[in-house]
Amino acid sequence: MRLSDCHNFHDFRRLAKRRLPGPIFNYIDGAADDEVTLRRNTAAFESVDLVPNVLRGVEEIDLSTTVMGQKLDLPVYLSPTALQRLFHHRGERATGAAAEAYGTMFGCSSLGTVSLQELREKHRSPQVYQFYFHKDRGLNRAMMQSAKEAGINVMMLTVDSITGGNRERDLRTGFSIPFRLTLGGMFQFAIKPAWGINYVTHEKFSLPQLDAHIDMKGDSLTIGRYFTEMLDPSMTWDDVEELRAEWGGEFCLKGVMSSDDARRAADTGCSGIVLSNHGGRQLDGSRTGFDQLDEVVQAVGDRLDVMIDGGIQRGTHVLKALSLGAKAVGLGRFYLFALAAAGQAGIERALGQMKAELTRDMRLMGAKTISDLNRDNLRFR
Ligand code: LAC
Repeated sequence: MRLSDCHNFHDFRRLAKRRLPGPIFNYIDGAADDEVTLRRNTAAFESVDLVPNVLRGVEEIDLSTTVMGQKLDLPVYLSPTALQRLFHHRGERATGAAAEAYGTMFGCSSLGTVSLQELREKHRSPQVYQFYFHKDRGLNRAMMQSAKEAGINVMMLTVDSITGGNRERDLRTGFSIPFRLTLGGMFQFAIKPAWGINYVTHEKFSLPQLDAHIDMKGDSLTIGRYFTEMLDPSMTWDDVEELRAEWGGEFCLKGVMSSDDARRAADTGCSGIVLSNHGGRQLDGSRTGFDQLDEVVQAVGDRLDVMIDGGIQRGTHVLKALSLGAKAVGLGRFYLFALAAAGQAGIERALGQMKAELTRDMRLMGAKTISDLNRDNLRFR
């Protein structure tokens, strides 16, 4: 199986599975508890149908949108995700370059493996910085400061990860950071030699956003333990208010679900929220961003930008979210499997397919611009 055999999300996932050592593939692919929310994230899109309009003269299609003050050529962006150089040796460098090629926004994570400064210097695309609120306030201040100095466009505070989700696949495989080759890992290394050679012949794994503050030389941590031990569960709306004021620019919360919290975010001066259950990786049984979208847009859509992520595999999923008033839609595993499959070329192929699907489906919906889509284009079953 090669890159040219990849025509959709499932193909990229299959190719990623072939290329990656098992523990790493399962870290990306897996979710919390029984993975009910993971499955529901994609299934949710099937509970509504598209109602197209015809005869609308749809030769020219404009997919651009403005979200959090950023003009994007596509209504999808690459959500911040952790540890990308484990998935492909170019990691975030490939992600940033592919986002730039498609004129969209990408994210750099607190747990990123390339520095936010390097990415900001290299790429013109709007860049989100994903912020974890650590117990170590010195670390929080330093991360804020670096993001400001680098000229990051959007600050995104994750609020659904104040303790680790129960990711049983990681417990079983022993996946942890820094990534260490256990006996089982060594076996994987032997059966995935191409990945192994790339891993050992490129720059040593590191977490540049955290390295100066957290000693990663000692114990290795599962991601669940990192959340539980390093992040601060005492975080409240007062902290959000303080961080937002300190940042002073576009500021959004990722992981809001209820209308009450969405109103609170607007009251606190946030310019956006991402309805997200963290790809099903935190609270299993949580409702999906898409299921909450209508209610939340009705509540606060005129006060801040509402985005969603979780489970997006198709252009039609994106159009359904946009019809309910999402300003843009975040992709996670969608581009991570493509990254693992073939680096920048993989992500560009996946984004090219997404763009082709969106263009085709907009025509079939009778919509020339994103603003032509509205609630009348959807019916709940
Ligand atoms: C995860 C974090 C790191 O879901 O975002 O693994």
